[in-house]
Amino acid sequence: MQHFLDISQISKTFNTATGTYEALQNVDLKIQQGEFVSLIGHSGCGKSTVLNLIAGLLDVTTGGIFLDGKQIDEPGPDRAVVFQNHALMPWLSVYDNIGLAVRAVFKKTKNRAEMDAWIMHNLELVNMTHAKNKMPNEISGGMKQRVGIARALAMQPKLLLMDEPFGALDALTRAQLQDSTMEIHRELGNTVIMITHDVDEAVLLSDRIVMMSNGPAATVGQVVDVNLPRPRNRLALAEDAQFNHCRRLVLDFLYAAHTPAEPQNSEVADLKASRPEAA
Ligand SMILES: Nc1ncnc2c1ncn2[C@@H]1O[C@H](COP(=O)(O)OP(=O)(O)OP(=O)(O)O)[C@@H](O)[C@H]1O
Ligand SMILES: [Mg+2]
Repeated sequence: MQHFLDISQISKTFNTATGTYEALQNVDLKIQQGEFVSLIGHSGCGKSTVLNLIAGLLDVTTGGIFLDGKQIDEPGPDRAVVFQNHALMPWLSVYDNIGLAVRAVFKKTKNRAEMDAWIMHNLELVNMTHAKNKMPNEISGGMKQRVGIARALAMQPKLLLMDEPFGALDALTRAQLQDSTMEIHRELGNTVIMITHDVDEAVLLSDRIVMMSNGPAATVGQVVDVNLPRPRNRLALAEDAQFNHCRRLVLDFLYAAHTPAEPQNSEVADLKASRPEAA
């Protein structure tokens, strides 16, 4: 069976000044069209590396990544990335930042009026039409992040890749953008991979949460299915048993990964001591 996104047994080794570093080993993940998948794991485990490999910004060392059956070996308009620090062109207005991406993707298929309507439509999706003529330095961090999301959506990518998109925002703005992201996902049915450090955010937004083990040679540790009906309401879910169960599974994984090796070894030693026949 062909998967929409097939990350097939990939590894990634970086060459550094002090030798090679194997960041990822045997990462294997299949994602279906329309799925919302979160990647979670400790800092430095390799989440951004996975995302950058999917984006085509890095090359795999072994294995392969296939989107709709086609091997990924360079960046392309079928994959749009939203970065944590919004990366807008400071010399272009909000409208023109989106226009730049729209022209790059649709120059052969849309005329000027159609492009204008498409830019405005995507600004509407993130409630930013009122600020279309503002420059990036005239809008807030949350608004910049909205523009970054609109720019990515405007490319109509097969895959939306988000690297801690709400990480730098205050709690209220973050909640608003999480809600908009869920609405957009429901409306467009797009396939999303999002990196986050926030367990509640991962459970609220995702169909699946992929938890990565620590590096070096990080890999997929455990996957949690979030079978909560949509649309989801954050307040109602705070009391929901299934929501809290998923949350607990993720927290258990993250804390277990922090457990130092020594207590584990002494536990094993204790166990062996109490069962000499098993030693
Ligand atoms: N270009 C590079 N050259 C050498 N090592 C790298 C390079 N990029 C990443 N690494 C190493 O690979 C590992 C994974 O990095 P990565 O940025 O993917 O982690 P992360 O999970 O996204 O972390 P964070 O949550 O802090 O963003 C780290 O040990 C990092 O130092
Ligand atoms: Mg990262």
